[in-house]
Amino acid sequence: MCGIVGYVGGGQAAPILLEGLHRLEYRGYDSAGLALAEGDKLQVIKAAVRVGELRERVGDGHTAPVGLAHTRWATHGEPTDINAHPHTDAGGRVAVVHNGMLENAEELREELLAAGVTPGSETDTELLAHLIAAELDGTESLEDAVRAVLRRVDGAYGIAVLDATRPTELVVARDGSPIVLGIGDGEMFVASDVAALVRHTQRVVYLDDGELATISAGDYRTSTLGANRTAKTTTTVDVTDEDYRLGDYTNYMHKEIHEQPTAVRRAVLGRLDDRFATAHLGGLQQDARELRSFRSVKLLGCGSAYYVAQLGANLIEEWARIPADAEPASEFRYRNPVIDPDALYIAVSQSGETKDTLAAVQELKRKGGRVIGVVNAPGSTIARECGSGIYLHAGPEVSVASTKAVTNMTVCFAMLGLLLGRMRDLSVARGRGIVSALDALPKAIEDVLAAEEAIAEVAERFSWAARMFFIGRVWYWPVAREGALKLKEISYVHAEAYQAAELKHGPLALIDSGMPSVVLVGDDELLAKNVATLEQIKARGGPVIAVTNAEIPADLADAVIRVPRVHPELDPIVFTIALQLFGYHIATALGREIDKPRNLAKSVTVE
Ligand code: AGP
Repeated sequence: MCGIVGYVGGGQAAPILLEGLHRLEYRGYDSAGLALAEGDKLQVIKAAVRVGELRERVGDGHTAPVGLAHTRWATHGEPTDINAHPHTDAGGRVAVVHNGMLENAEELREELLAAGVTPGSETDTELLAHLIAAELDGTESLEDAVRAVLRRVDGAYGIAVLDATRPTELVVARDGSPIVLGIGDGEMFVASDVAALVRHTQRVVYLDDGELATISAGDYRTSTLGANRTAKTTTTVDVTDEDYRLGDYTNYMHKEIHEQPTAVRRAVLGRLDDRFATAHLGGLQQDARELRSFRSVKLLGCGSAYYVAQLGANLIEEWARIPADAEPASEFRYRNPVIDPDALYIAVSQSGETKDTLAAVQELKRKGGRVIGVVNAPGSTIARECGSGIYLHAGPEVSVASTKAVTNMTVCFAMLGLLLGRMRDLSVARGRGIVSALDALPKAIEDVLAAEEAIAEVAERFSWAARMFFIGRVWYWPVAREGALKLKEISYVHAEAYQAAELKHGPLALIDSGMPSVVLVGDDELLAKNVATLEQIKARGGPVIAVTNAEIPADLADAVIRVPRVHPELDPIVFTIALQLFGYHIATALGREIDKPRNLAKSVTVE
């Protein structure tokens, strides 16, 4: 999705802005650009190109100490040079970059046309530049001009504005799309994502919805759309530039798959209590009495986060015996849900910025629901909106295909299930089993990673397939869904997940020699049923790839991916990691651009 970077200080803005854009590339974009205040003129360079190409077009020799930059993911208008940001007014005085979407853009466009201003692009953002320039004619302050325009805007925005006649300041504002200020030494940064800032500073200030900030080299001030000053707290982020380095890996997905043992160790660090066989989750503000009072649990997320939510609901229901279920946040928010005052609602999100999940949280809060967040990105909008919750501690995840965050989400739900369970009827012995399985999990993940070559060999053998089934039952049904999603998003192979018992109700018709099935066979009480599923598929000539920790008849699988045993309810985690490697190696064999899958963005901040 779109990215914003801004700089005001003593250095040269251009290289800082370009480096910032490079850090935001992972979010997905189709064009890029920057604006610099050189003298009292704006220099704007933008095009439907990658950041590397933009860097070449910008070249050296720009000494401007202030500027803003953008990566665009098209919403209003095609990804073209003209629609790329920054946008300026007709006189070339005001430059604007914008994340989000204005809902009354047509109305504003008509108003400008009636006033004799013809926008050159199809974007809603350009309208803001014209309107702010018009306001500047009647006011002394850029902040006031921006505020006056934003009061007339409907929709979501994170914006940064530069006025060529005031080359010592930037004005930024947010409503529905994140803006973070980075505090340097005699210089200030601004971005839509801390990833663009951590090279320069760890000290950040998060703007809230409805807030504006004017930033200059040594200072910033914040206020509301109603012109009331606000007081902000500086946060030190626990992320450095090092966390974003690729090191010896060729792409971030592979790097992040291999970071999982460390990520899990970080997630459980200081949170497991062997003595009382429970978990301590310091981010939960609810006391024991409140945690015991919930009569049901509802988990909400999108994409992979939704599939993990399904697994999380299973863990909570199994261990705490509280009815629990999961729903895509994107459906929940639109269906006028009944909010149960006795339920605990949980919003799950790696980025903490997914628009649909955020909207579900806001709908819940508006109706008096009690909601916590299970989030990776500290200080993100969903984390702050929930106010209470569990951080994943997976470290920054750059790859569009989520891997280590998925694993840490499951681990966090396991700890929550353990905590809630031990407040109810989960026995000490069973609790201890879960604690020691969570302790042993990083080693089991290492064992899966050590089998990468064998998994890659299976993936390469089946990389001819244009379509695949992923089949799982109960605990392995969300794993099948996640495995299918991973494969389709990075390899573009059509992958469908089905519950094993559902095959006979229709999908079996699709089984033939051109449709391999990845069947997840756990060593549990459903083993015999799963062996019967293998037989059904083989009998119809379908190739079978079995992912298993059980003994299965050799003639029922064309390939076997072996995974270690950890714990009956935590085994789905290691199966998921095997499927990450399987999808990754199919995509690699097909020559896909792993970290930049087509049409996708890392964090989906539009509806
Ligand atoms: C995962 O591989 C996907 N790219 C995607 O489904 C993702 O999980 C989803 O967009 C939710 O993102 P979030 O966790 O940042 O909210």
